[in-house]
Amino acid sequence: MNTHLWIQYFRANQNRFVEPALPPGGCALPASVLEPLRESLAIFQLGESGGGTRLLKYVRHVVSANRLAGYEEAVGLFIAEEQYHARLLEKAVTYLGGVCLEKQWSNSIFRWLRNHFGVEFNIQILLIAELIAEVYYGVMYRKCGDTALRGVCHKILSDEMRHIAFHTEFLRERLDAMPAWRRWLWRAQFRIFQRVTAVAVAWDHRDCFRALGLSPWEAAAMTFKTGERFLRRLGGSQHLWGARPAALAT
Ligand SMILES: [Fe+2]
Ligand SMILES: [Fe+2]
Repeated sequence: MNTHLWIQYFRANQNRFVEPALPPGGCALPASVLEPLRESLAIFQLGESGGGTRLLKYVRHVVSANRLAGYEEAVGLFIAEEQYHARLLEKAVTYLGGVCLEKQWSNSIFRWLRNHFGVEFNIQILLIAELIAEVYYGVMYRKCGDTALRGVCHKILSDEMRHIAFHTEFLRERLDAMPAWRRWLWRAQFRIFQRVTAVAVAWDHRDCFRALGLSPWEAAAMTFKTGERFLRRLGGSQHLWGARPAALAT
């Protein structure tokens, strides 16, 4: 894993984005769209927040065990980018006239799972969340109809695609060191976890997806596809820098 390249990327990405104006309560979308959107976005805002303390602790162990030089710094920059997303989404929720949350059931499950089963599972859960985010922000970008909100979604989606590539490169190296049977088991459990999570999140955010013209099942099916694409890339050897968000293509 070329951690030096990732550190360069994360540093350069800190100053690339110009935030759109997001005046509180300034969104003119109809209430039928606005209300489900802000409730849903507040949950994603909560998911993007968090200090990453446990992840960094796991990573320190991996770095010392495998001499993965630079990975800890790269993960620190990745966490900083997620924290920026949380701040940006906080402004977006306020712009939609909503209020940020302090606790929410699906977010609590995500956090609990991430913090109890070691670095690979922590990264796996993060990755599952990133794959959901790819679909979510992509649908929001294409269908919400508000220019400022589209700008926010475009920025987060572009970053999340890089995060997927970042985690894929890490996991690819970890899996390459496993025997074939263990790799097969890992992929099988990943597919199950990813699909169950995709259905649960799509159902939890069904009002938002419906307001954007999508059934929760269609949203879940889109997330299944991102999961399969991830597994294909995980098994390949190509670098992932050129990966373009499919959600931005239409
Ligand atoms: Fe994020
Ligand atoms: Fe991310």
